[in-house]
Formats: sequence, C-alpha cells, structure tokens
Amino acid sequence: MSSSSSVGLLQLLLWGCEVWLLMSCGIVNGDSSTVKTGDISKVEDAENFHIYYGQTFKVIKNAIDGRSYLLVQNTSRMASRTKYCSSRIKSFVIPISNYSVDTDLFPVSFFELLGLLGSMKGITSDSSVASACVLKLYQSGDIQLINSSSSDSQLELFAAHFTTHSDQPQACNFANFVPFQENTPLQIAEWIKFLGVFANVEARANQVYTAVKNNYLCLTNVAASKTKSFKPIVAWMEFYDGAWSFTQETLKLKYVEDAGGENVDNSINKMTYNISNPDDLEQLHAILCTVDVVIDGTYTTEPANYTQSTFLQNVNVEADNSSCFAFLTNQSLWRYDKRVQNSNVSVTLDWYDGGVSQPQLVLGDLIEALFPAANYTTTYFRNIAKGEGVVKIDAKMCDGDTSIAMEPIILPCQ
Ligand SMILES: *[C@@H]1O[C@H](CO)[C@@H](O)[C@H](O)[C@H]1NC(C)=O
Ligand SMILES: *[C@@H]1O[C@H](CO)[C@@H](O)[C@H](O)[C@H]1NC(C)=O
Ligand SMILES: *[C@@H]1O[C@H](CO)[C@@H](O)[C@H](O)[C@H]1NC(C)=O
Ligand SMILES: *[C@@H]1O[C@H](CO)[C@@H](O)[C@H](O)[C@H]1NC(C)=O
Ligand SMILES: *[C@@H]1O[C@H](CO)[C@@H](O)[C@H](O)[C@H]1NC(C)=O
Ligand SMILES: *[C@@H]1O[C@H](CO)[C@@H](O)[C@H](O)[C@H]1NC(C)=O
Ligand SMILES: *[C@@H]1O[C@H](CO)[C@@H](O)[C@H](O)[C@H]1NC(C)=O
Ligand SMILES: *[C@@H]1O[C@H](CO)[C@@H](O)[C@H](O)[C@H]1NC(C)=O
Ligand SMILES: *[C@@H]1O[C@H](CO)[C@@H](O)[C@H](O)[C@H]1NC(C)=O
Repeated sequence: MSSSSSVGLLQLLLWGCEVWLLMSCGIVNGDSSTVKTGDISKVEDAENFHIYYGQTFKVIKNAIDGRSYLLVQNTSRMASRTKYCSSRIKSFVIPISNYSVDTDLFPVSFFELLGLLGSMKGITSDSSVASACVLKLYQSGDIQLINSSSSDSQLELFAAHFTTHSDQPQACNFANFVPFQENTPLQIAEWIKFLGVFANVEARANQVYTAVKNNYLCLTNVAASKTKSFKPIVAWMEFYDGAWSFTQETLKLKYVEDAGGENVDNSINKMTYNISNPDDLEQLHAILCTVDVVIDGTYTTEPANYTQSTFLQNVNVEADNSSCFAFLTNQSLWRYDKRVQNSNVSVTLDWYDGGVSQPQLVLGDLIEALFPAANYTTTYFRNIAKGEGVVKIDAKMCDGDTSIAMEPIILPCQ
C-alpha cells in the first residue's frame, strides 16, 4: 500500500468513526472482536475528548485542538505498516512500552493511579514535579532528564511524549493532554481514561474514575445536607500587582458550590480592588466583613513564608483592627499550597497535580473549611489563621512500590 493511499484509508476510517460513531467501528457490543468487553473506556462527563474502538485499533479525538491519535495494537498487521504523522493525525503502536512527559503543568499523578510510573522514562524538568515517586525514580536514574528546548531528537526517544502545551512544535510522538479546558473537577479527572488508552489499561482507568466520582458525588450530597438556614459565603481571592480580585474561574466556583458554600456574587467579582486607592480599599474591607471563609490564592515563590500577617499586609489592615473580619475571629483563612515542591528555581504545588486527579480530596478539604469537623486532616489546603505550615515534598516521601498502581483515597462519607 502506498503511503498516500494509506492516508486516504485512514481518513476514511476516521471519517467513518465520526459519522457512524461507535456502531460502525464495532465498539460497545464488541461482537467477537479481539478487544475484550470491559477493556473499553466510555467518556461520561468530559467534553473535550472522544474515544472510538475498532477491532485492532482505537482512535482518540481531541476536541480542543482537533487532533486525532490512531492507536494500533502491536499484535495487528497494521502495526508494522502504519505510520502517520501529520499536523492532525498521528499514529502510535500500543501498548506503549515507554514514554516521556513535559512536566510543566502536567498532573503526573494520573500515571501513578494507572500504575504506569515504571514506563515513564523521561521528564523535561525535575523542579516542576510534585510527585515524590517521580522524584525518587529520577534520583535513582530510572527516569532521565530530556531537554525540551533542544532541536535534536531527545524528545523523540520514547514511544510517546505527553504534553499539556498544545501550542508548541510537535514531534511525531507528541500527544497533547489538555484536561484543563474542562469546566468541572470531575470532567478534568476523567482524563485519566485518555492516558489509559495508550497502555491498554482501560479497566484500571474506569475503576479509578468511578471510585473518585462516586466519592465526590457522595461528599457533595453530604455537604448539601450540612447547610442550615444560610450557606457560608466564600471569597476565593488573589492579590496581584497591588490589587485584589475575586475568582471567576468556573472550576473554583464549582468547588465552592459543591462543598455547600456560596460564592461572592458577580457585582463583587467583576472588579479589582487596588489597595493604593482609598475607595477601593474601603470597599474591599466592607466586603471582607461579610464573608465567612477566605481562600487566598496569591502566588508566592515561598509558600512557607506566606502567613496570616502576609495576608493582613496585603489587605492593608493592622492585626488589631480586623475585628469585623468573621473569617479571622472564626479562624477560616486558607491557602491551597499545603503540599509544595520548592526548588531554588521554581515552586510547584501538588494542588495542580494530585489535586487534579483526585478532586474528591480537594472537595473534602473545602467541606472541612466550610463545616469544620473535629478530626480531619486536610490534604491540599492549610489554614493560615491557625498558623498551619506547608509540607515539603521530596523523594523520601515515596514509600510505596513504584511499579504498583497507587490507590485513590476514598474519604469517609455518610
Ligand atoms: C505487544 O505488547 C505486549 C505488552 O507490552 C508485549 O508483551 C508483546 O510482546 C508485544 N507484542 C508484539 C508482537 O510486539
Ligand atoms: C537544551 O538545548 C538548548 C538548545 O539546543 C541548549 O541551548 C541548552 O543549553 C540545553 N540545556 C541543557 C540543560 O542541556
Ligand atoms: C522506547 O520504546 C520504543 C518503541 O517501543 C523503543 O524503540 C525505544 O528503544 C524505547 N526507548 C527506551 C529508552 O527504552
Ligand atoms: C494599583 O495602583 C498602583 C499605584 O497607583 C499601581 O502601581 C498598580 O499598577 C495598580 N495595580 C493595578 C492592578 O491596577
Ligand atoms: C522566607 O523566610 C526566611 C526566614 O524568615 C527568610 O530567610 C527567607 O529569605 C524568606 N524567603 C523569601 C523568598 O522571602
Ligand atoms: C481601623 O478601622 C477604622 C474603622 O473601620 C478605620 O477608620 C481606620 O482607618 C482603621 N485603621 C487602620 C490602621 O487600618
Ligand atoms: C464560626 O463558625 C461556626 C462553625 O462553622 C459557625 O457556626 C459560626 O456561625 C461562625 N461564626 C461567625 C461569627 O461567623
Ligand atoms: C539550586 O541549588 C543547588 C544547591 O544549592 C545549586 O547547586 C544549583 O546550582 C541551584 N540552581 C540554580 C538554578 O540556582
Ligand atoms: C481521629 O483520626 C484518627 C486518624 O484518622 C483516628 O485514629 C482517631 O480515632 C480519630 N479520633 C476521633 C475522636 O475520631
């Protein structure tokens, strides 16, 4: 088969998959195919990727950037004949035996949950990793550092290179992983299925996602039942360049709602409050006198040094003049930088890694912030009104066997 006619065939296949959807590609009921029932993932909540199954191949379609990945089973005849690498369609032989990751803003915890750390062989940087076990594998030489800005073929050493930066130049083994375009915590967490497909570990991906989702939904129901006459009001805010703003991110607003809280409304979050402007400052103080819980998401290069007094300084209030702030008298001032990997070059929060693949833990923390229980230890959030400090992540904290899949943490829920 000439390469041009095989591209034509592929396009036909992809077109077929799109138009006839699952049926024409023989999925779901999987007649007598080589793809065993139970080994397929169905996307339930995420909106930005689709998976189609053939007898000996799978197709993942990425709705964000329009790219398709044709994944051919290594046992099929197509595997040795097929190699596509265009801007829209790439082929991979699966299960991939090794892979590398652009670790910048990449939640590697998905691979931990899938049990795939053993075949992670390259990372672009160790300082942008918040996983103790990836750091351990790197320090023991099992994972090598690859130079992402180099023009040589370092990035093509491995069967696949996963990245969240879909705007970069893309070698033939690049696969774009773009969960952050989704709107809700569960939609983002479902992207575990995207990665599972490359290693034929759909069953594991389904199992983890179902466990995470059930726990998340259960916690949401419990939180809803905790509200008495009024929901606690939550201000999720950030200080940048001398001014405060309240979050408008759908994801964060959704977390607050699911935890049984109420976000400050649009009349408040549509503007910024510059603390050098006396009118803005007065308004900001007035708003803060009405809220029950504050989450301070201000970026800092040194989370350990960000305390309640940093917050008071940033809202320009003397400690002895803050008595109308109920969130201070009631000690509910939070940051999501409890787990941090601090190197001298950068600060990496586990919030962007473990917190992405296990949103039930983030929700559990928020429920604790809104409805404090007697005996609960948060994972990602720390209460700076109670002087809680950070936990520094390092390789020594990896105590499990890195060749075994990590179990998701299911929170008690009744
Ligand atoms: C296909 O992949 C599996 C799992 O990595 C491996 O055991 C097997 O030898 C491979 N088969 C071929 C024909 O490459
Ligand atoms: C990475 O590659 C670029 C371009 O080739 C080079 O300038 C840089 O020094 C390399 N960095 C490291 C750490 O090797
Ligand atoms: C990674 O896998 C590819 C394809 O299976 C293989 O050619 C390559 O040698 C492997 N690289 C390493 C470093 O293991
Ligand atoms: C806030 O005001 C100060 C002083 O006027 C100014 O330097 C700063 O850029 C302002 N910040 C914003 C976000 O407008
Ligand atoms: C953090 O606090 C320590 C101790 O007070 C200080 O030595 C260090 O310079 C601070 N770091 C930053 C980035 O402010
Ligand atoms: C203390 O609070 C009062 C009343 O809100 C205000 O008039 C005064 O400027 C505040 N002083 C400081 C130092 O913040
Ligand atoms: C302080 O928190 C408790 C428990 O969350 C709540 O019942 C109480 O109303 C809060 N008090 C104030 C002044 O917000
Ligand atoms: C980071 O700190 C280590 C040890 O203190 C030092 O060897 C290294 O050069 C530093 N890196 C940078 C980029 O400053
Ligand atoms: C508090 O939590 C610890 C660890 O989860 C548990 O061992 C202990 O029994 C709990 N105490 C109460 C009073 O629930």
